[in-house]
Amino acid sequence: MIDDIRRIAADASDRIAAAATLDELGGLDRELLGKTSELSGFKRRMGELDHEGKREVGSALNAAQESLRFAVASRRDQLAAVARREQAEAERLDLTEVRAGRDAGHLHLVTQAIEELEDVFVGLGFTVAEGPEVEDDWHNFTALNFGQYHPARDMQDTFFVGLGGPREVVMRTHTSPVQIRVMESQKPPIYSVMPGRVYRNEATDATHLAVFHQLECLVVDRGITFGHLAGTIDMFTKAYFGPGWTSRLRPSYFPFTEPSAEFDLQRPDGSWLELGGCGMVHPNVLANCGIDPEEFSGFAFGFGLDRLAATKHGVTDLRELASTDVRFLEQF
Ligand code: PHE
Repeated sequence: MIDDIRRIAADASDRIAAAATLDELGGLDRELLGKTSELSGFKRRMGELDHEGKREVGSALNAAQESLRFAVASRRDQLAAVARREQAEAERLDLTEVRAGRDAGHLHLVTQAIEELEDVFVGLGFTVAEGPEVEDDWHNFTALNFGQYHPARDMQDTFFVGLGGPREVVMRTHTSPVQIRVMESQKPPIYSVMPGRVYRNEATDATHLAVFHQLECLVVDRGITFGHLAGTIDMFTKAYFGPGWTSRLRPSYFPFTEPSAEFDLQRPDGSWLELGGCGMVHPNVLANCGIDPEEFSGFAFGFGLDRLAATKHGVTDLRELASTDVRFLEQF
Protein backbone atom coordinates (compact mmCIF):
# COMPACT_ATOMS: atom_id res chain seq x y z
CA MET A 1 0.00 0.00 0.00
CA ILE A 2 2.81 2.33 0.89
CA ASP A 3 4.49 1.70 -2.44
CA ASP A 4 1.18 2.50 -4.18
CA ILE A 5 0.89 5.76 -2.24
CA ARG A 6 4.43 6.77 -3.14
CA ARG A 7 3.89 5.93 -6.81
CA ILE A 8 0.63 7.86 -6.98
CA ALA A 9 2.18 10.84 -5.20
CA ALA A 10 5.18 10.88 -7.59
CA ASP A 11 2.86 10.86 -10.65
CA ALA A 12 0.70 13.56 -9.10
CA SER A 13 3.64 15.78 -8.37
CA ASP A 14 4.84 15.48 -12.01
CA ARG A 15 1.40 16.52 -13.24
CA ILE A 16 1.31 19.49 -10.85
CA ALA A 17 4.72 20.67 -12.00
CA ALA A 18 3.54 20.44 -15.63
CA ALA A 19 0.31 22.44 -15.11
CA ALA A 20 0.40 25.26 -17.67
CA THR A 21 -2.34 27.56 -16.35
CA LEU A 22 -3.92 28.52 -13.04
CA ASP A 23 -7.19 26.96 -14.22
CA GLU A 24 -5.54 23.67 -15.03
CA LEU A 25 -3.80 23.72 -11.65
CA GLY A 26 -7.11 24.28 -9.84
CA GLY A 27 -8.54 21.21 -11.59
CA LEU A 28 -5.55 19.08 -10.57
CA ASP A 29 -5.82 20.30 -6.98
CA ARG A 30 -9.38 18.96 -6.78
CA GLU A 31 -8.60 15.76 -8.65
CA LEU A 32 -5.44 14.83 -6.68
CA LEU A 33 -6.21 16.15 -3.21
CA GLY A 34 -10.02 16.35 -3.01
CA LYS A 35 -12.37 13.97 -1.15
CA THR A 36 -12.80 11.71 -4.18
CA SER A 37 -9.10 11.51 -5.00
CA GLU A 38 -7.24 8.27 -5.28
CA LEU A 39 -5.18 9.11 -2.18
CA SER A 40 -8.29 9.82 -0.08
CA GLY A 41 -9.45 6.31 -1.02
CA PHE A 42 -6.61 4.87 1.03
CA LYS A 43 -8.11 6.34 4.20
CA ARG A 44 -11.12 4.08 3.83
CA ARG A 45 -8.98 1.03 3.08
CA MET A 46 -6.85 1.63 6.20
CA GLY A 47 -9.62 0.07 8.33
CA GLU A 48 -8.47 -3.37 7.20
CA LEU A 49 -4.99 -2.86 8.69
CA ASP A 50 -3.59 -3.66 12.12
CA HIS A 51 -2.37 -0.99 14.46
CA GLU A 52 1.18 -0.87 13.17
CA GLY A 53 -0.03 -0.97 9.54
CA LYS A 54 -2.42 1.94 10.18
CA ARG A 55 0.40 4.00 11.65
CA GLU A 56 2.78 3.41 8.74
CA VAL A 57 0.22 3.86 5.97
CA GLY A 58 -1.28 6.90 7.72
CA SER A 59 2.03 8.65 8.00
CA ALA A 60 2.95 7.85 4.34
CA LEU A 61 -0.42 9.20 3.29
CA ASN A 62 -0.01 12.39 5.30
CA ALA A 63 3.49 12.95 3.95
CA ALA A 64 2.27 12.42 0.36
CA GLN A 65 -0.66 14.80 0.73
CA GLU A 66 1.47 17.40 2.47
CA SER A 67 4.08 17.39 -0.27
CA LEU A 68 1.39 17.60 -2.97
CA ARG A 69 -0.25 20.57 -1.24
CA PHE A 70 3.15 22.24 -1.12
CA ALA A 71 3.72 21.46 -4.83
CA VAL A 72 0.34 22.98 -5.75
CA ALA A 73 1.04 26.16 -3.75
CA SER A 74 4.46 26.74 -5.25
CA ARG A 75 3.25 26.01 -8.80
CA ARG A 76 0.41 28.50 -8.18
CA ASP A 77 2.96 31.19 -7.18
CA GLN A 78 5.00 30.54 -10.32
CA LEU A 79 1.98 30.70 -12.64
CA ALA A 80 0.66 33.87 -10.98
CA ALA A 81 4.04 35.57 -11.44
CA VAL A 82 4.06 34.60 -15.12
CA ALA A 83 0.52 35.95 -15.55
CA ARG A 84 1.51 39.27 -13.92
CA ARG A 85 4.56 39.57 -16.16
CA GLU A 86 2.49 38.86 -19.27
CA GLN A 87 -0.09 41.47 -18.30
CA ALA A 88 2.56 44.09 -17.58
CA GLU A 89 4.17 43.31 -20.93
CA ALA A 90 0.84 43.60 -22.76
CA GLU A 91 0.03 46.97 -21.15
CA ARG A 92 3.52 48.35 -21.44
CA LEU A 93 3.76 51.97 -22.68
CA ASP A 94 6.69 53.04 -24.74
CA LEU A 95 7.57 56.43 -23.31
CA THR A 96 10.65 57.04 -25.40
CA GLU A 97 10.17 59.95 -27.76
CA VAL A 98 11.84 58.46 -30.79
CA ARG A 99 10.76 54.92 -31.45
CA ALA A 100 13.39 53.12 -33.46
CA GLY A 101 12.10 51.81 -36.77
CA ARG A 102 8.66 53.34 -36.24
CA ASP A 103 7.00 56.64 -37.06
CA ALA A 104 8.59 59.13 -34.68
CA GLY A 105 5.54 61.45 -34.69
CA HIS A 106 5.01 64.77 -36.41
CA LEU A 107 4.42 68.46 -35.75
CA HIS A 108 1.19 69.59 -34.12
CA LEU A 109 -1.57 70.97 -36.33
CA VAL A 110 -1.02 74.54 -35.10
CA THR A 111 2.76 74.30 -35.57
CA GLN A 112 2.15 73.03 -39.10
CA ALA A 113 -0.09 76.06 -39.77
CA ILE A 114 2.58 78.45 -38.42
CA GLU A 115 5.22 76.88 -40.65
CA GLU A 116 3.02 76.92 -43.75
CA LEU A 117 2.13 80.59 -43.23
CA GLU A 118 5.74 81.53 -42.52
CA ASP A 119 6.66 79.92 -45.83
CA VAL A 120 3.99 81.95 -47.64
CA PHE A 121 5.14 85.26 -46.11
CA VAL A 122 8.87 84.57 -46.31
CA GLY A 123 8.30 83.86 -49.99
CA LEU A 124 6.99 87.43 -50.29
CA GLY A 125 10.08 88.87 -48.60
CA PHE A 126 8.70 89.14 -45.04
CA THR A 127 10.79 88.38 -41.97
CA VAL A 128 9.54 86.41 -38.95
CA ALA A 129 9.71 88.05 -35.49
CA GLU A 130 8.87 86.91 -31.98
CA GLY A 131 8.25 88.55 -28.62
CA PRO A 132 7.74 87.51 -25.00
CA GLU A 133 4.50 85.96 -23.75
CA VAL A 134 4.79 87.85 -20.46
CA GLU A 135 4.50 91.50 -21.46
CA ASP A 136 4.52 94.89 -19.85
CA ASP A 137 1.60 97.27 -20.04
CA TRP A 138 3.48 99.53 -22.44
CA HIS A 139 3.82 96.94 -25.21
CA ASN A 140 0.50 95.14 -24.73
CA PHE A 141 -1.63 98.30 -24.31
CA THR A 142 -0.18 101.79 -23.90
CA ALA A 143 2.09 101.95 -26.95
CA LEU A 144 -0.80 100.48 -28.95
CA ASN A 145 -2.81 103.62 -28.16
CA PHE A 146 -5.03 102.08 -25.48
CA GLY A 147 -5.61 105.12 -23.21
CA GLN A 148 -5.11 104.51 -19.49
CA TYR A 149 -8.86 104.35 -18.87
CA HIS A 150 -9.92 103.41 -22.38
CA PRO A 151 -12.75 100.85 -22.31
CA ALA A 152 -11.05 98.91 -25.10
CA ARG A 153 -8.68 97.55 -22.44
CA ASP A 154 -11.67 95.52 -21.31
CA MET A 155 -12.28 94.13 -24.82
CA GLN A 156 -9.53 91.70 -23.95
CA ASP A 157 -9.93 89.88 -20.67
CA THR A 158 -6.45 90.09 -19.31
CA PHE A 159 -4.51 87.75 -17.05
CA PHE A 160 -2.29 89.91 -14.82
CA VAL A 161 1.00 88.68 -13.43
CA GLY A 162 1.95 89.50 -9.83
CA LEU A 163 5.13 91.38 -10.78
CA GLY A 164 5.88 95.10 -10.66
CA GLY A 165 3.07 97.50 -9.82
CA PRO A 166 -0.61 96.61 -9.97
CA ARG A 167 -1.64 95.62 -13.52
CA GLU A 168 1.83 96.40 -14.86
CA VAL A 169 2.75 92.92 -16.12
CA VAL A 170 0.35 90.81 -18.19
CA MET A 171 0.17 87.59 -20.13
CA ARG A 172 -0.01 89.11 -23.60
CA THR A 173 -3.60 89.22 -24.83
CA HIS A 174 -2.60 89.42 -28.49
CA THR A 175 0.48 89.37 -30.72
CA SER A 176 0.18 93.13 -31.47
CA PRO A 177 2.79 94.00 -28.78
CA VAL A 178 5.34 92.33 -31.08
CA GLN A 179 4.53 95.07 -33.63
CA ILE A 180 5.77 97.59 -31.07
CA ARG A 181 8.92 95.59 -30.35
CA VAL A 182 9.69 95.31 -34.08
CA MET A 183 9.11 99.05 -34.71
CA GLU A 184 11.17 100.01 -31.64
CA SER A 185 14.11 98.01 -32.88
CA GLN A 186 13.98 98.46 -36.68
CA LYS A 187 13.60 101.32 -39.11
CA PRO A 188 11.12 101.04 -41.98
CA PRO A 189 10.69 99.47 -44.43
CA ILE A 190 9.22 96.75 -42.21
CA TYR A 191 7.61 93.62 -43.62
CA SER A 192 7.19 91.16 -40.74
CA VAL A 193 4.97 88.34 -39.48
CA MET A 194 4.82 87.44 -35.79
CA PRO A 195 3.31 84.12 -34.72
CA GLY A 196 2.85 83.26 -31.07
CA ARG A 197 0.82 82.14 -28.09
CA VAL A 198 -1.60 84.52 -26.40
CA TYR A 199 -3.75 84.40 -23.26
CA ARG A 200 -7.25 85.59 -22.39
CA ASN A 201 -9.24 85.18 -19.21
CA GLU A 202 -12.16 83.56 -21.00
CA ALA A 203 -14.38 80.56 -20.43
CA THR A 204 -13.34 77.78 -22.79
CA ASP A 205 -15.79 76.28 -25.27
CA ALA A 206 -15.80 74.72 -28.73
CA THR A 207 -14.90 78.05 -30.39
CA HIS A 208 -12.87 79.78 -27.63
CA LEU A 209 -9.66 78.87 -25.87
CA ALA A 210 -8.06 80.79 -22.99
CA VAL A 211 -4.61 79.97 -24.39
CA PHE A 212 -4.42 80.16 -28.15
CA HIS A 213 -2.24 81.34 -31.02
CA GLN A 214 -2.25 84.33 -33.32
CA LEU A 215 -0.32 85.45 -36.32
CA GLU A 216 0.34 89.17 -36.63
CA CYS A 217 1.39 90.86 -39.84
CA LEU A 218 2.95 94.33 -39.95
CA VAL A 219 3.99 96.40 -42.93
CA VAL A 220 5.43 99.91 -42.57
CA ASP A 221 6.81 101.68 -45.62
CA ARG A 222 6.26 104.74 -47.77
CA GLY A 223 2.92 104.86 -49.58
CA ILE A 224 1.26 101.84 -47.95
CA THR A 225 -2.52 101.87 -48.47
CA PHE A 226 -5.64 100.01 -47.41
CA GLY A 227 -5.50 98.28 -50.81
CA HIS A 228 -2.22 96.64 -49.84
CA LEU A 229 -3.87 95.39 -46.64
CA ALA A 230 -6.89 93.88 -48.40
CA GLY A 231 -4.70 92.36 -51.12
CA THR A 232 -2.30 90.76 -48.62
CA ILE A 233 -5.15 89.17 -46.63
CA ASP A 234 -6.71 87.79 -49.80
CA MET A 235 -3.35 86.50 -50.99
CA PHE A 236 -2.51 84.54 -47.84
CA THR A 237 -6.07 83.16 -47.69
CA LYS A 238 -5.72 81.65 -51.15
CA ALA A 239 -2.17 80.48 -50.49
CA TYR A 240 -3.21 78.66 -47.31
CA PHE A 241 -6.64 77.31 -48.27
CA GLY A 242 -6.62 77.26 -52.07
CA PRO A 243 -7.97 79.33 -54.96
CA GLY A 244 -11.66 78.77 -54.08
CA TRP A 245 -11.40 80.94 -50.95
CA THR A 246 -11.88 84.72 -50.67
CA SER A 247 -11.98 87.35 -47.92
CA ARG A 248 -13.97 90.43 -46.94
CA LEU A 249 -13.47 93.34 -44.55
CA ARG A 250 -16.11 94.77 -42.18
CA PRO A 251 -15.73 98.14 -40.40
CA SER A 252 -14.62 97.76 -36.79
CA TYR A 253 -12.61 99.44 -34.07
CA PHE A 254 -9.16 98.89 -32.59
CA PRO A 255 -7.27 101.68 -30.79
CA PHE A 256 -4.06 100.87 -32.66
CA THR A 257 -5.46 101.01 -36.21
CA GLU A 258 -7.39 103.70 -38.07
CA PRO A 259 -9.44 102.89 -40.02
CA SER A 260 -10.02 99.43 -38.55
CA ALA A 261 -11.80 96.37 -39.87
CA GLU A 262 -12.53 92.77 -39.06
CA PHE A 263 -11.87 90.25 -41.75
CA ASP A 264 -13.76 87.10 -42.63
CA LEU A 265 -12.84 84.29 -44.99
CA GLN A 266 -15.36 82.81 -47.40
CA ARG A 267 -15.29 79.08 -47.94
CA PRO A 268 -15.89 77.64 -51.42
CA ASP A 269 -19.43 76.69 -50.27
CA GLY A 270 -20.18 80.40 -49.64
CA SER A 271 -20.17 80.27 -45.81
CA TRP A 272 -18.08 82.71 -43.77
CA LEU A 273 -15.45 82.27 -41.09
CA GLU A 274 -14.74 85.23 -38.77
CA LEU A 275 -11.00 85.28 -38.45
CA GLY A 276 -9.27 88.45 -37.30
CA GLY A 277 -8.80 92.19 -37.03
CA CYS A 278 -6.87 94.62 -39.18
CA GLY A 279 -6.38 98.23 -40.19
CA MET A 280 -3.94 101.00 -41.02
CA VAL A 281 -1.41 101.48 -38.22
CA HIS A 282 -2.59 104.46 -36.13
CA PRO A 283 -0.29 107.51 -36.44
CA ASN A 284 0.04 107.61 -32.62
CA VAL A 285 1.40 104.06 -32.67
CA LEU A 286 4.03 104.94 -35.30
CA ALA A 287 4.99 108.03 -33.27
CA ASN A 288 5.19 105.96 -30.02
CA CYS A 289 7.85 103.87 -31.77
CA GLY A 290 9.82 106.82 -33.14
CA ILE A 291 8.52 106.47 -36.73
CA ASP A 292 7.37 109.66 -38.45
CA PRO A 293 3.70 109.18 -39.49
CA GLU A 294 4.10 111.99 -42.05
CA GLU A 295 6.72 109.98 -43.89
CA PHE A 296 5.56 106.40 -43.36
CA SER A 297 2.26 104.55 -43.26
CA GLY A 298 1.51 100.94 -42.53
CA PHE A 299 -1.04 98.21 -42.14
CA ALA A 300 -1.41 95.43 -39.63
CA PHE A 301 -3.59 92.41 -39.19
CA GLY A 302 -3.84 89.63 -36.64
CA PHE A 303 -5.88 86.45 -36.43
CA GLY A 304 -6.38 83.19 -34.58
CA LEU A 305 -4.18 80.39 -35.87
CA ASP A 306 -6.06 77.68 -33.98
CA ARG A 307 -9.30 78.58 -35.72
CA LEU A 308 -7.53 78.71 -39.07
CA ALA A 309 -5.89 75.30 -38.66
CA ALA A 310 -9.08 73.74 -37.26
CA THR A 311 -11.06 74.99 -40.25
CA LYS A 312 -8.57 73.60 -42.73
CA HIS A 313 -8.62 70.16 -41.12
CA GLY A 314 -12.32 69.93 -40.26
CA VAL A 315 -11.80 70.05 -36.48
CA THR A 316 -15.06 71.38 -35.01
CA ASP A 317 -14.04 71.76 -31.35
CA LEU A 318 -10.98 73.95 -30.72
CA ARG A 319 -10.41 72.20 -27.39
CA GLU A 320 -9.27 69.14 -29.35
CA LEU A 321 -6.17 71.14 -30.29
CA ALA A 322 -5.00 70.97 -26.66
CA SER A 323 -5.59 67.21 -26.56
CA THR A 324 -2.72 64.81 -25.98
CA ASP A 325 -4.75 61.84 -27.22
CA VAL A 326 -2.62 60.10 -29.81
CA ARG A 327 -5.76 58.86 -31.59
CA PHE A 328 -6.62 62.52 -32.32
CA LEU A 329 -3.10 63.74 -33.04
CA GLU A 330 -2.20 60.88 -35.38
CA GLN A 331 -4.83 61.97 -37.89
CA PHE A 332 -3.00 65.10 -38.97
N1 PHE B 1 -4.78 92.37 -31.92
C1 PHE B 1 -6.14 92.32 -32.39
C2 PHE B 1 -6.90 91.23 -31.60
O1 PHE B 1 -6.28 90.38 -31.05
C3 PHE B 1 -6.22 92.00 -33.86
C4 PHE B 1 -5.60 93.07 -34.70
C5 PHE B 1 -4.28 92.96 -35.10
C6 PHE B 1 -6.33 94.15 -35.11
C7 PHE B 1 -3.72 93.95 -35.91
C8 PHE B 1 -5.81 95.14 -35.89
C9 PHE B 1 -4.49 95.04 -36.29
O2 PHE B 1 -8.11 91.24 -31.53
